[in-house]
Amino acid sequence: MTEMLIKAREDKYAVGAFNILDYNSMKVVVETAQELQSPVIVQTSEKTVSFWGFDPIVSWVKELTQNTTVPVAIHLDHCKDLSFIQSCINAGWSSVMIDASSKPFEENIRLSQQVVKMAKPHGISVEAELGEIGGIEDDMIIKEEDVHLASAKKAKIFLEKVKVDCFAPAIGTSHGIYKGEPKIAFERLKEISQLSDTPLALHGGTGLSEAVFKKCIQLGCAKVNISTQLKYAFIDGFLYYHQANPKEYNPLAVLQAQYSALKIAVAENILLFGSNQRA
Ligand code: 13P
Repeated sequence: MTEMLIKAREDKYAVGAFNILDYNSMKVVVETAQELQSPVIVQTSEKTVSFWGFDPIVSWVKELTQNTTVPVAIHLDHCKDLSFIQSCINAGWSSVMIDASSKPFEENIRLSQQVVKMAKPHGISVEAELGEIGGIEDDMIIKEEDVHLASAKKAKIFLEKVKVDCFAPAIGTSHGIYKGEPKIAFERLKEISQLSDTPLALHGGTGLSEAVFKKCIQLGCAKVNISTQLKYAFIDGFLYYHQANPKEYNPLAVLQAQYSALKIAVAENILLFGSNQRA
């Protein structure tokens, strides 16, 4: 993941990190990236990995990327559990995120350093978070009162002490569906971006406007996370097909409808982030 993000930050586009749910959704992500000649990050939440198991997910990636020519990374999204991260490293993930953002600052640094030590010898990239990104992502619920932006002063110390490949500062975006217009701290993002060349991750991608994406990408965000939009496409793709064909009971047609709905979402984001034709 490191290489694709360095290139993206330099050339001012972003790589989409799409939270997959099953084999079909992973297939959409890989095949759409190949079609659009885009690097891509297949992102897995801890909950999804626990549901399917480590080895099945890695075997899907291997199978789906056998004939692809575009770079595909497999990344573990927000994880607080070091033994879970170790299992992903052992199973073949190419990138992991340690999210110790809810811990005191020094503890966040210590845990993130520990993950860097676990991952680096295997050539695996590490993402870490500072500040607290709000909203709901699977079982992770961050209440309004706990949300806080990453401070530039702390970001400087963090980046000096922890050699991460991707840094996720909380800048006012949140996971899930936005209630009203999100207030993005562009100035803060700019200050943090100027501290180093480390590619930045933009969390809470679902529902952000094209203008917000463009501005954040200009300011150093090289990875954009999209999850909720795919959850909606996954369920609506199924539902709308069944509602339109209530008597059919053809599971493969339903899977195909789901595939098509997910593909629209993935393609739209790849084009928005400008990573098409960059592979
Ligand atoms: P959304 O669910 O808002 O798209 O956010 C995804 C994300 O940031 C995953 O870490």
